[in-house]
Amino acid sequence: MKPNYRDYSSIVVLTGAGISAESGIKTFRASDGLWEEHRIEDVATPEGFARDPMLVHRFYNQRREPLLRGAIDPNPAHVALVQLEQKFNGDFLLVTQNIDNLHELAGSSGVRHMHGEILKMRCTVSGEIFACHTAISVDSVCACCQRAGSLRPHIVWFGEMPLYMDEIYSALASCDLFLSIGTSGNVYPAAGFVQAANQAGATTIEINLEASSVASEFDHAVYAKAGEALPNWVASFLS
Ligand code: NAD
Ligand code: APR
Repeated sequence: MKPNYRDYSSIVVLTGAGISAESGIKTFRASDGLWEEHRIEDVATPEGFARDPMLVHRFYNQRREPLLRGAIDPNPAHVALVQLEQKFNGDFLLVTQNIDNLHELAGSSGVRHMHGEILKMRCTVSGEIFACHTAISVDSVCACCQRAGSLRPHIVWFGEMPLYMDEIYSALASCDLFLSIGTSGNVYPAAGFVQAANQAGATTIEINLEASSVASEFDHAVYAKAGEALPNWVASFLS
């Protein structure tokens, strides 16, 4: 039987790079993906940043620029999650691994960016987080400590602690529906969320272009583009 919103009281949604692919943002692990063009150790680790901050700033500045320009729009998959949040009369938590702001632009509220946000920067001295309206360089002077070179992108790099973990695991422990959209299931802890939801007895559903690395953990799957499959799934779920 198709899942229907009347049968559920608590939903956790996890999204990954695939949900933003149809908006024109490259995923990480596709054959033309970001990790084919860049070495993770260079641009997405604390060690890489310590070695060559210019290179790391350039990588994130390039990815931030079209978002600052307003050149990237949410797609129907982001919009469908807003409809789900607004019409579902229960607990709803949207967790994303994405650092873009497309969920917010679509109208989602309370998005938990577990890998950080590209439109924010952080002072490495005080830990204070600021909005980032421009490119950052090693010469940028931090508003809180007045030092040059103390700013970094507010992004969780490999080997660092993802954000909101206590809140996310607590929501997973009490959810009855877990939806995973556009993620390859290669990066933990996010790839393990389906197991936590299964332990809670939740119905688990994957919507992805292809079977993820943790596909066997899910009760149901739809293998198609999120921009088409998710609006259909949400319409059926809310009917
Ligand atoms: P990881 O599995 O080590 O976890 C990431 C971070 O999250 C760690 O700092 C860890 O302490 C923290 N963490 C783990 N579980 C947590 C929890 N329950 N609560 C709070 N924090 C928790 O991941 P990583 O180092 O970011 O790498 C992710 C995976 O991706 C690894 O398996 C790695 O081998 C792989 N990887 C893949 C590529 C690639 O795709 N080419 C490159 C680098 C790493
Ligand atoms: N619709 C649905 N799924 C899609 C689409 C689409 N239009 N296009 C691509 N996909 C799927 C791919 O098949 C792939 O399984 O989205 C998935 C994207 O996987 P990754 O590129 O590995 O991205 P993600 O899972 O979000 O990566 C997790 O890894 O490098 C880190 O911190 C980075 O947050 C990121 C994390």
